[in-house]
Amino acid sequence: MEIRTKEIMEEFNLSRQTLYNWVKEGTISKPKKDWRGWRMWTEQHVEEIKKTIRFKEEQLSLPNLNDKKLQINNRRYLGSKYKLLDFIRKIVVENCQGIETVADIFGGTGVVADLFNREGKNIIVNDILYSNYMSYWTWFRNDPINEDKISSIIHELNHAEPEEENYVSKNFGGTYFTQYNAKKIGYIREQIELLSESLTFREKAILITSLLYAMDKVANTVGHYDAYRRKLDSFNKLTLLVPDLNDEWNEGNQIYKEDANELVKQIRADLFYIDTPYNSRQYGDAYHLLENISEWKKPEVTGVARKMVNRSHIKSDYCTMKAPQAFADLVSHIDGKYILVSYNNMAKKGVGRSNAKISAEEIIGILETRGPVQIFETEFHPFTTGKSTIEDHKEILYLCEIRR
Ligand SMILES: C[S@@+](CC[C@H](N)C(=O)[O-])C[C@H]1O[C@@H](n2cnc3c(N)ncnc32)[C@H](O)[C@@H]1O
Repeated sequence: MEIRTKEIMEEFNLSRQTLYNWVKEGTISKPKKDWRGWRMWTEQHVEEIKKTIRFKEEQLSLPNLNDKKLQINNRRYLGSKYKLLDFIRKIVVENCQGIETVADIFGGTGVVADLFNREGKNIIVNDILYSNYMSYWTWFRNDPINEDKISSIIHELNHAEPEEENYVSKNFGGTYFTQYNAKKIGYIREQIELLSESLTFREKAILITSLLYAMDKVANTVGHYDAYRRKLDSFNKLTLLVPDLNDEWNEGNQIYKEDANELVKQIRADLFYIDTPYNSRQYGDAYHLLENISEWKKPEVTGVARKMVNRSHIKSDYCTMKAPQAFADLVSHIDGKYILVSYNNMAKKGVGRSNAKISAEEIIGILETRGPVQIFETEFHPFTTGKSTIEDHKEILYLCEIRR
């Protein structure tokens, strides 16, 4: 019996590219072509494909835990400023004096806070998402932890071969993750919960962070959970890594999970770094799955993207028409020496989903109520979600020296 490529793709939920790659690397044998040049697959190929999928799902890809540790930037995140750190640093070094405390109050991954932390500043890091807050507990606190215990738990969890279905496999298997990985994620998260009594809060946060980062590595997505790719192509096995901690830098740091507009009324810092969402894409929607796994309340999920039904607590005004008003309110309450704002020119202000919610004029006008503003621009290749290339993309930094 001869089978067409399209049928193989549908049967196994594989992309054409994956099939061709497997042929190219010799994992499956090369199919003959018919008179039209179409590849014709046989029973033997089907068996080889099944074997490959099984192998990819089950292969042990455990890294050597001694030499591969998790770094703060080892994750995909919309709007991450990891590639902009040199630019941010240069602007601050050349234009700001007397910076001892830096507040990164829309912290996301925390990479900007991490930059200043490594330079010996005290940092304040905040985000509304619980999943990010878990990661701040990992990277920015210095509560003592038992590193051997963490390593051995991670080692055991990596070796577990769970068989029973669980919340994650039932709700997310075969979509964002292979059935195998989904089962493992659910199992690992449940184990972390069961171990809670013998863990400090930070140790638990470290295990959760390790899981969230590992999920990102095997997720069948373009870097967020608004959607999964139609073809399930991520067959790597989920592997937890031990975070590379530098607690000696963390004394005096503060971390929060608050609405930045509320937090700003309670804190003081020399430099406030402000990196709000730019458009109507809510981070709580894009990262609902990380919130779900970190909170572990096992809520009902809905729709094709399988989001938690209730996400109202993680909705941001910065993704709505209220953004300029929220930004003005935020800026008016800042108690510090400088405000550094990241915003980009990817889209003009407008009502579309990807349009910016605050215009450059509004940002400048609002900042000028506090003091003089300088503007810095750089070419930047952003983390985009699709194949579209945005010409002339610039990342812009607005620096305001607070005088009033
Ligand atoms: C552009 S991202 C920040 C990216 C970050 N600078 C990085 O490099 O990873 C914006 C962040 O603001 C958070 N956020 C949105 N509204 C917020 C609010 N009102 N208060 C605190 N955080 C908020 C989002 O969850 C998201 O992580």
